[in-house]
Formats: sequence, structure tokens, C-alpha cells
Amino acid sequence: MTNATTPPRRSAPRTPEEPLNGRTALVTGGSSGIGAAIAQELAALGAHVAVVARRTDLLDATVSRIRQAGGRALAVAADLTTPTGPQDAVAQVRDLLGPVDILVCAAGAVRLGGVDEVSDRHWNLMFTLNLDAPFRMARAVLPDMRHAGYGWIVAIGSAAGADIVPGSGAYGISKAALNRLVELIDEENRACGVRAVAVCPGWVRTALAQDPAEAGIPEDEVLSPQDVAQTVSWLVTRPSRLRLDRIVRCEPTSPRADATAAMVAALASSGRGRAEEGTPR
Ligand SMILES: NC(=O)c1ccc[n+]([C@@H]2O[C@H](COP(=O)([O-])OP(=O)(O)OC[C@H]3O[C@@H](n4cnc5c(N)ncnc54)[C@H](OP(=O)(O)O)[C@@H]3O)[C@@H](O)[C@H]2O)c1
Repeated sequence: MTNATTPPRRSAPRTPEEPLNGRTALVTGGSSGIGAAIAQELAALGAHVAVVARRTDLLDATVSRIRQAGGRALAVAADLTTPTGPQDAVAQVRDLLGPVDILVCAAGAVRLGGVDEVSDRHWNLMFTLNLDAPFRMARAVLPDMRHAGYGWIVAIGSAAGADIVPGSGAYGISKAALNRLVELIDEENRACGVRAVAVCPGWVRTALAQDPAEAGIPEDEVLSPQDVAQTVSWLVTRPSRLRLDRIVRCEPTSPRADATAAMVAALASSGRGRAEEGTPR
């Protein structure tokens, strides 16, 4: 925890401008990219946001941006690949802010390669961070959400988990399994007012993805983290009577920037037709 003091709860009513006032959101991956953008969006809508990741300097920067904009946030440092990291992070946020109303799992990592190229280490990392951590955090927040009769669990999946993208390796498989986890959570809990959705982006301009300029793709053909964040904030502010698809694709319009194109660009930048250690940073 990098911010020991907990800002006081605001008791202002929910308004059209701040529909998430009084809600507590926990956003993993809040130190950068899509997670940081989602944290800012949810805070702008009134939620009190806990951002969770490993890099405390970047977590603090996200918190500062939110506070400067008039929102409420705090940072919780955690490595979500450790056996107790996910549930400990939930417990810490619960102690500081109360039960989590909105859980957004955006932390993720990518290692590419054909199935025959995937090492045990990379297989384990993809599944521990991209699938086990969301599962453990969802399991930890669900009892409170069910009790409250309200909750959102949002997982940031990937188009590579929805499509069969050659070279997506353990990353694509972990994201496909994440989709099923979300579908099950939603089916099992929607009668209690708890909903779950997987937002599956295509190519987004972040440190995790191949730089579009390097791949000869104009930057504005690729999504921004804010595009994904606004999709998430739109979803979690829909009225409870409205049910939408559990798997929401969120992709660039340009075919040059679809999931396969992003993967091909990442594999090419790694210097191989197929990747070995290929993290497309
Ligand atoms: N960019 C794309 O084109 C794209 C497309 C589809 C889906 N996605 C998905 O979007 C999500 C966010 O990625 P991004 O593009 O925003 O990349 P990013 O900026 O690299 O974000 C990844 C986040 O995961 C966190 N993280 C990594 N390992 C962690 C660990 N062991 N414990 C806790 N947190 C950890 C990182 O924080 P720390 O390093 O500070 O821990 C960081 O905040 C991922 O799930 C990714 O699969 C991205």
C-alpha cells in the first residue's frame, strides 16, 4: 500500500454526472495502459477507486491524476502471480474502502509463439496472471456483491481469446478460458444483481502491444486505452434491467489493425515468423 491515509467516503447522491458515487472499484493493472485509463474513467464517474499492480511509482502517478481531476483513489501494491496476492489485495481494499462493488481485472501479460514453442514458464505465467488472478479475485468479491445485490466483474480479455489467432499461444488460450470464467460468473450470479462481462480489445496503443508506427500502421487506426476505458464505464453504468452480451468485442475498425494483424506485427518485430520469447514490447 503506497497511500496509508484513506480519503473519507463521500456521501453525495448518485447523479447522472456521477452515477458511480458511493461505489468502490478495484482495478488491477492500474499502473499503466488500459487499467490506468479505466481507473480514471470510473473515478470521473464518482467511484472510489483502488488501483492494484506492482510498480508503485506508476500506481501513485495514476492516483495523483485522479485526485487532481477531483476524484478519489488509492494505490495498493501487489504481485498478482503470487499464491495469495489476489485475495490479499481484495482484503486490503475491503479493509480500507469497504466491500468492492466493481472489480476490473486488467492486469495481464503476453508471450507469443506457436503451441510447440511455448515454454512451461510462459504457459504458467499466462495462466497465473491472465486467468488464475481474475478467478481468485472474483471468488473473493462475489460473497459481498451477492449480499449487496449489486456488483460488476469486468475482465479485460482479448480478441486473441475470441478468435483463433496463430501464434497467440498460451496468451490466446488463457484469454479464451477467461471468457468462459466470465460467462459462468454472470450466469451464476445475475439473479442476485451481480453481472460479469469480458471486454475483448483488438490492438490498443500501450506498452504491451507492438508500436503501430513501427509496423507501418497509422496510430489513429489503433485503439487508445481511453476507447477501452469508455467502453467499460458505459457498460457498468447501464441500468440493471438491461442485459448485454457477456463477451464484448472492442476493436479497431481498420482490418490492418485487427487481432491477427497485431499478432503478425508483434511476431515480425521479434525477428521471427513465429515467436520464442516474443513479448511484443
Ligand atoms: N494492448 C493491447 O493491444 C491489448 C489487446 C487486447 C487485450 N489487452 C489486455 O489489456 C490488459 C492491459 O494491458 P495493456 O495493454 O494496458 O498493457 P500494460 O500497460 O503493459 O498493462 C499491463 C498491466 O498489468 C500489470 N501487471 C503485470 N504483471 C503483473 C503482476 N504480476 N501483478 C500485478 N499486476 C501486473 C502491469 O502493472 P505492473 O507492471 O506495475 O505490475 C500493468 O499495469 C491485459 O490484460 C492485456 O492482455 C491488451
